Amino acid sequence: MNRVFIKTYGCQMNERDSEAVGALLRARGYCIVASEEEADVVLLNTCSVRDQAEQKALGKAGRLLRAKRTAAANGTQAPLLGIIGCMAQNKGHALVDSLPDLDLIVGTQKFHQVPTHLDHIMESLRGLGPRPSTIIDIAEEEGSQNAINGHAPGRRVSAFVSVMQGCDMHCSYCIVPHTRGAERSRRMEDIVAEVRALAAAGTREVTLLGQIVNRYGAKEFRSSGGKSPFAQLLEKVHAVEGVERVRFTSPHPTAFRRDIVECFRDLPKLCEHIHLPVQSGSDRMLRAMRRPYTRERFLRTVDALRDACPQMCFSTDIIVGFPGETDADFAETLALFDEVRFDMAFIFKYSTRSGTAAAALGDTVPREVKEARNNMLLERLGAFSLARNQSLVGTEQEVLVEGRARRGEGVFMGRNRGNRKVLFPGTADMEGRLLPVRISRATTTVVFGDVVKH
Ligand code: 5AD
Ligand code: SF4
Repeated sequence: MNRVFIKTYGCQMNERDSEAVGALLRARGYCIVASEEEADVVLLNTCSVRDQAEQKALGKAGRLLRAKRTAAANGTQAPLLGIIGCMAQNKGHALVDSLPDLDLIVGTQKFHQVPTHLDHIMESLRGLGPRPSTIIDIAEEEGSQNAINGHAPGRRVSAFVSVMQGCDMHCSYCIVPHTRGAERSRRMEDIVAEVRALAAAGTREVTLLGQIVNRYGAKEFRSSGGKSPFAQLLEKVHAVEGVERVRFTSPHPTAFRRDIVECFRDLPKLCEHIHLPVQSGSDRMLRAMRRPYTRERFLRTVDALRDACPQMCFSTDIIVGFPGETDADFAETLALFDEVRFDMAFIFKYSTRSGTAAAALGDTVPREVKEARNNMLLERLGAFSLARNQSLVGTEQEVLVEGRARRGEGVFMGRNRGNRKVLFPGTADMEGRLLPVRISRATTTVVFGDVVKH
């Protein structure tokens, strides 16, 4: 009864949290398995950013609970089910109303308690204690992120490191400040110690994670010599021996100051790719979204980054169909998209989240209009992505080999510094190495090549 399957929805922060919960469970004698069929316990680590994300997890939970009831009626055992993370935090007790047979609901500040709660349930199943009804643990807890960090799972070529949690920005559409709480940052020494431990275990690339990562330490620590706490952190992580590449995600355009731009010029391990969510190209929409920058200011940041680092690749998030978005507003988004020529973008159709400021504005843009705007952006994105990938054909790219690719025998996968996926024939001993790969062919999503033997 100790096999746990964790299914993760949503962002990289969730992936990192799932890894950390998995590591804590392993340390407690549980075994993390790769599919729900093998599992005694299924944990859904959920996302609340859009309604669709919640519906997906709710649908999954509903199916699992029906299977559990059928199994119980047949006298067999189906997996226990827990909902953890953002939707647990967002919906809390209301989840039990729609899913009364849930075993566990654990919020974003209580991940570290998952093993203890599971232990209780297991004990009760072995007849060693009373059977709890749904355990609900969604309280806020100071320092909670320290409790799940530093538990590096086994060897990983590329690893996420959480540096801060929460968000104080209150963009009008966003549920994250509610699900993740106020901004709080880990101590620099703890982060650097985690990165050192990862490097010692074979990690070559670290991605520093935070909801608004460039505001790292803004509340807790001081600027020094004109450098914000985040720039100081980047320098410290950059100095860790064994780490060959540094990335971070996601920064906010507002807090993107000169000192961070200069890091791209001065820190060679910092890779030339940046995910900079713009959300809209219309100043009117940015104001309604409560994003405290203008399109002009955003474009100036892009220019500054390109000046510091001409090879810089940009990706972004865009919301289409925010309440009140007109064709003219959307045309500004398209124009901005063309001007920056984003290599990658996540395009979201606006989804009302109750409890956010924008919920009062209704959902005024018809679904077909959102769909059409979404498709227009996707089309452009496809063209830009393909053009960028084709421009790599014939060049030699530095690739960090992550492991076997899913397609084909002997095919390996890695990323170039611009975060493009590169596929090439390889051997297991290449894993974890930085190798030159000559690119021979490109599609929209991936490039193919061969390792160059110097
Ligand atoms: N509707 C649609 N997209 C949203 N995002 C956040 N909230 C919403 C919402 N209510 C998008 C933003 C953000 C990304 C993580 O999700 O683009 O950057
Ligand atoms: Fe949400 Fe805005 Fe904070 Fe990003 S910066 S998490 S979009 S409130």
